[in-house]
Amino acid sequence: MKKLLSIIITGIMALSLMTGCGSTQATEPENKLEAIKSAGKLIVGTSADYPPYEFHMIIDGVDTIVGFDVEIAKEIAAGLGVELEIKDMAFDAVLAGVGTGMIDLGVAGINPTPEREAAMDFSDVYYKASHTIVVKSENVSQYKSQEDLKGKVIGAQTGTLQEGVAQEIEGVTVKSLGKVTDLILELKTGKIDAVILELPVANSYANQNEDLSAVKEVVFEKMEGGSSVITAEGEKELMAAVNEIIAKLIKEGKIDTFVADATMLAEKLAN
Ligand code: ARG
Repeated sequence: MKKLLSIIITGIMALSLMTGCGSTQATEPENKLEAIKSAGKLIVGTSADYPPYEFHMIIDGVDTIVGFDVEIAKEIAAGLGVELEIKDMAFDAVLAGVGTGMIDLGVAGINPTPEREAAMDFSDVYYKASHTIVVKSENVSQYKSQEDLKGKVIGAQTGTLQEGVAQEIEGVTVKSLGKVTDLILELKTGKIDAVILELPVANSYANQNEDLSAVKEVVFEKMEGGSSVITAEGEKELMAAVNEIIAKLIKEGKIDTFVADATMLAEKLAN
């Protein structure tokens, strides 16, 4: 009886040892760059509410995500020799998405900040822009400086730098929403008075909507930040590959071309 029991126990131990060993081998952590290459696909998260960075456009009857960030994402995928899949999500979900592994990269006009750097990694900056506000054209003369925002309802996208800046302005009420398109809608219907946006985006929405104007006089100091691509923390190989592609695009003047093309494309959305 004792002997039988020990045989069974030894058997179980051997079995668990074998399966244990097998599973460690299967989950052997390959780095993200290798994982992308073996999957043959790069998954990029963005928030396609930010012309000319990324926005929706009907092309030949098909809803397509376009913009200069999309062109950069295409170049990265091509450089890695893989297919590109773009996931459209709320901006704060893009920031969280690299950490959870839901997306491989975030390309969404994302500015590096010390707080964000604690949770994700940033590539070299590929584009720089300042910030301003968009208001109703009929009210544009009311806004000459930041002071004029006192007592107003300011819209900002959830989880963005602009949201933080809006919260620091004295005497304003901040309304945060996940998508810029919804903020623009609330602005048009008078639920909010102004939306803080990166200057090219403010100009783009003003061009597209006759009833909206960008206010060049209202600028935000310390907000001349640049845009970077994000990855999960510690993915050195992937980040090196991304930086190499960005450096090449900058050197060849391609980013400028992508920005100019996307700006022209966004103008076609005018209604
Ligand atoms: N640059 C700002 C930030 O990093 C806002 C970016 C918003 N991007 C977008 N695709 N909606 O916080």
